[in-house]
Amino acid sequence: MPIPVPTDSSTAVVTGASSGIGEQLARALAARGYHVTLVARRAERLERLAEELGNAGIVTADLTEPAKRAALAAAVEEAGRTADVLVNCAGFGVYQPFYESARFRELEQLRLLAEAPMDLMHRWLPGMVERRRGAIINVSSTSAFQALPFNAGYAAAKSHLLLLSEAVHAEVSGLGVTVTCVCPGPVATEFQAASEAEFAEKLPKFTWISAERVAQDALRATERGARLVIPGGPVVEAMFLPNRYAPRGVALSVAKRLMAK
Ligand SMILES: NC(=O)c1ccc[n+]([C@@H]2O[C@H](COP(=O)([O-])OP(=O)(O)OC[C@H]3O[C@@H](n4cnc5c(N)ncnc54)[C@H](OP(=O)(O)O)[C@@H]3O)[C@@H](O)[C@H]2O)c1
Repeated sequence: MPIPVPTDSSTAVVTGASSGIGEQLARALAARGYHVTLVARRAERLERLAEELGNAGIVTADLTEPAKRAALAAAVEEAGRTADVLVNCAGFGVYQPFYESARFRELEQLRLLAEAPMDLMHRWLPGMVERRRGAIINVSSTSAFQALPFNAGYAAAKSHLLLLSEAVHAEVSGLGVTVTCVCPGPVATEFQAASEAEFAEKLPKFTWISAERVAQDALRATERGARLVIPGGPVVEAMFLPNRYAPRGVALSVAKRLMAK
């Protein structure tokens, strides 16, 4: 299932476009001729990128707020654009024991990683199905594959996004629309500093890939109509096999050791 061919009035809505993976996905979609709607909180960064890309609009929004998500949908409509592509990429992670973390941060994380993508999918998917054209790319994580002590809320929210994506992928198969869940391992972006995710340093260097590679692999997988992609190629994919298929108790105890500070 290819990514729909861009038209004069279509757009690819990309959340988290002000840095890292979202920025690279926006660049890659723009390079394929897409008008991109760049979404994040840092307006200055979005403006700079929009200016560089040319065929782009920006919407500044804190996506944890339902009203801002409604305003995003309204802004796309007011611009006379149809969202043929939706990339849910905005995110951060809480890397602390659950019993010590701030409740508002845990809830903010859940809203951004689970509620916001579900809301945006639900706003645009029906139109995609009606038109028989559309692609949704949800950026989850290899953290979605198992419970993660000391990063519990993040892994649970990423699992939510993975399971939602897989189920909806099956629902819309044959209807001209595709949903692809992208599960990267470690990627060197601002994420590690923003989320104080030092644990990632413990992962073997060969599992680290660039945000550009994630974007490339995500778009290729979407073009194939793939349900799930672990960017970085077969070696990286193999590295995360135990996370997906080891007995849950075993995965949990290994994860606890890895994630402990
Ligand atoms: N880096 C990794 O190792 C890694 C691995 C697996 C999965 N991921 C996932 O990949 C996605 C992108 O992460 P990244 O590595 O590219 O990190 P990043 O460079 O820190 O980018 C995060 C993006 O999310 C946006 N964002 C954060 N809070 C937001 C909010 N409340 N409302 C709207 N936008 C918000 C940020 O923009 P503003 O600050 O301007 O709002 C930024 O554009 C995330 O979902 C992350 O969980 C990352």
